[in-house]
Amino acid sequence: MKSLDQIVALAKRRGFVYQTAELYGGLNGVYDFGHLGVLLKQNIRAAWRQSIMATNSNILFLEGAILGPHAMWEASGHTQNFSDPLIDCTNCKRRFRADDIDTQKACLVCGKKAWTDIRQFQLMFETNLGAVADQSTTAYLRPETAQSIFVNFKNIMSTNRVKLPFGIAQIGKAFRNEITPKQFLFRMREFEQMELEWFCTSDQADEFFDLWVASRENFYTQIGINMDHIKLSQHEKSELSHYSSRTTDIEYEFPFGYKELEGIADRGTFDLTQHSKHSGKDLSVHDEATKQSYTPHVIECSVGVDRLFLTLLCDAYTQDTIGGEERTVLKLSPRMAPIKAAVLPLTKKLSEPARALYNELTKLGVMIEFDESGSIGKRYRRQDEIGTPICFTYDFDSKQDNSITVRDRDTTKQERISIDTAREYVMKILQR
Ligand code: GAP
Repeated sequence: MKSLDQIVALAKRRGFVYQTAELYGGLNGVYDFGHLGVLLKQNIRAAWRQSIMATNSNILFLEGAILGPHAMWEASGHTQNFSDPLIDCTNCKRRFRADDIDTQKACLVCGKKAWTDIRQFQLMFETNLGAVADQSTTAYLRPETAQSIFVNFKNIMSTNRVKLPFGIAQIGKAFRNEITPKQFLFRMREFEQMELEWFCTSDQADEFFDLWVASRENFYTQIGINMDHIKLSQHEKSELSHYSSRTTDIEYEFPFGYKELEGIADRGTFDLTQHSKHSGKDLSVHDEATKQSYTPHVIECSVGVDRLFLTLLCDAYTQDTIGGEERTVLKLSPRMAPIKAAVLPLTKKLSEPARALYNELTKLGVMIEFDESGSIGKRYRRQDEIGTPICFTYDFDSKQDNSITVRDRDTTKQERISIDTAREYVMKILQR
């Protein structure tokens, strides 16, 4: 059984993720991403974009601002509803999410039962723009990317030649002042979302809801997630967000249990109606056929880049024993692997011709790594741990027979191939 601690240790050891400002003791629920983390995130975003466009190409992209005015967040219902129940222990002064603890029992930290009343804690980060601080200058860091899409709906429709049904997609940062950030990248205070808002008529809403649930499930198969660890879960009425009439979560079985990975929600006409009411601007569309105007219905698919990053690490993390030796290997699908292939000269004396091969492979436009330091066994172990699907080893025979050894990450099997076929070999691996 793999534990979250093992996955956190690997992510830190191999430079995928660092604690933000670790030098100063870190910042709870906030992380920096190192070289391999950046590459993995890029692959996640690219796969998401590709997947939604493959489902329906009638999708436009947006990159909205992180800051939004008070009026916008009031219209969206976030200033009133976007909060979690908070409780304090008056003895040890610790704060908890009230739904995480049993208030009939004593505090798990100090052992005393001295709870305050439960009150609502606003999860949005508030700030002021400029030198004057009043309601007109209050701004919030967005807690979801979706609202930038709704407030730009008219701009986007009028500057692009689109007709309903169509989607607006966005990848970007979101911020929530979570009371208890936890489980590494699962619940963070600064994170990134990939959201698709799909606009259609109310008659089409159920059909598109089902289509997007199926498409999103298919996405997880395509990026190599073991579907035995995925399940769908419908929200009960009491669990629905203030904007949703129907939500299906795609859950993943993390080491700490089944939890939401992605939410697909029927937001109805809630957001456009609210923004229209509060701004006084008409956000309806005109149907030429019926000569009537109506407010579009919205189906939303929303997943966190970081939560999916953690899912991929959890799913790929494997410990096995090969030839009597224990190893840790990240069995990421080649498409998601940060590095697609490594070129390893057997010794530093062979660096020059091996580097020529590396230079040739980088022309493919995918990430290739060159590593010449340490024993070959150690270098294989490192590539296994970062999920590199294949290693090419250039040895003392390579010059004479124009061949190299290819080692497969998962089986550790090695075969001899002609150097001239190395490019083709990498391309073939990426089709897996
Ligand atoms: N626009 C809808 C929305 O924001 P949500 O269920 O609150 O819905 C959507 O968030 C997705 O964003 C979640 O399924 C999760 O993948 C990710 N997410 C939400 N809060 C997060 C947090 N604190 N840390 C990391 N990811 C988070």
